[in-house]
Formats: sequence, structure tokens, C-alpha cells
Amino acid sequence: MEVGAGNGLNFPHYPVGVTEVLAVEPEDRLRELAGKAARRAAVPVTVVPGTAEALPAPDGAFDAAVVSLVLCTVRDVPAALAELRRVLRPGGELRFFEHGAADTPGLARVQRGLDRTVWPLLFGGCHTSRVPPAEIEEAGFVLGPYRSFDVPEGGPRLPSSPCVLGTARR
Ligand SMILES: C[S@@+](CC[C@H](N)C(=O)[O-])C[C@H]1O[C@@H](n2cnc3c(N)ncnc32)[C@H](O)[C@@H]1O
Repeated sequence: MEVGAGNGLNFPHYPVGVTEVLAVEPEDRLRELAGKAARRAAVPVTVVPGTAEALPAPDGAFDAAVVSLVLCTVRDVPAALAELRRVLRPGGELRFFEHGAADTPGLARVQRGLDRTVWPLLFGGCHTSRVPPAEIEEAGFVLGPYRSFDVPEGGPRLPSSPCVLGTARR
């Protein structure tokens, strides 16, 4: 399952060993684009409406779930992660690529200020100061290896630059 699939940018990256992807996307326009991307994908992808906080899938139905730049935007992070945990089978894997809080006090302070003011209004509900690895662990996942880096790497450090890429297990 991929949650918050957007326009389906990730679909070409699913390897052929993947037998089926259920892609959940709440926005009508993005879901339409994701539908087109699904038709070009090398693996079967079904795009459906829904939100992370109420996933349209039964308990334990998936081997793996993907979130890519989504936990910054969901309305309720604990509810979204509880849902992701629910739809994964025991031992199933959450794969995440998210931006979050900076590890430097100056930028972290700026991020908190932006999140209280203009950033969510300007960027579709996005927040910059969330802490995905800690939130994933608090939701009951066993955090696997992850790495932290900036996007753009070596470029200007923006409020959305600090990123994490990794896995966690149910
Ligand atoms: C920055 S985009 C990322 C899109 C895609 N995952 C990617 O990596 O290109 C954030 C996505 O999260 C979706 N989104 C926002 N709130 C959501 C929610 N509550 N549940 C699921 N998806 C949500 C948006 O519609 C959008 O597609």
C-alpha cells in the first residue's frame, strides 16, 4: 500500500517482484494523475480515494506500506500511523521518506514558528517540525535503519530540507 500517493511519482520505482499496490490518494486531481501513472507502471497499481486516518483496507492485508512526504501533511499523525500499523501484517514493513525537524536549534526554532503561522497555509497543510522517526516508534513500530540528509544535498538549507529515509516493522 502507498498512502498519499500524489500524482503517482513513485509508481515507476516499484520492482517487478511487487504483486500489487493499493495507492490511496485523497485529492481528486492528484488521484486522476495517479490513475494515469498507474496505467504506465510495471506492476499492478490500483488507485483509490481515502485518507491515512481511515485507510480503506482490512487488518493485516499488506506486506509493506510506503509513505513519501505525507506524514508532514496528515491531519492526525498518531491516527495515520495506527492505521498504517493496522493494515500491515505482523512483521510487515513501513518504508518512509519524510522531511521533518532540523537537528540544529536555529532552524528548528524557525520551523516551529513557520508551522504555527504561514507554512501550512502556503503548502497545503504541510508542517516542517514534525519528527517522523520518533512518531513512527511511538505508534508501536520497531524502527529499522534510517538515514538523515538534506534536500537539496549541499544546497541552501530550507525549512523542508532535513529528510529521513528508512524502514520500520510492525
Ligand atoms: C507532498 S505530496 C507527496 C506525494 C507523493 N507521496 C510523492 O512522494 O510524490 C503529499 C501528499 O499527501 C496527500 N495527503 C494529504 N493529506 C493526506 C491524508 N490525510 N491522508 C492521505 N494522504 C494525504 C496529498 O494529497 C498529497 O498527495
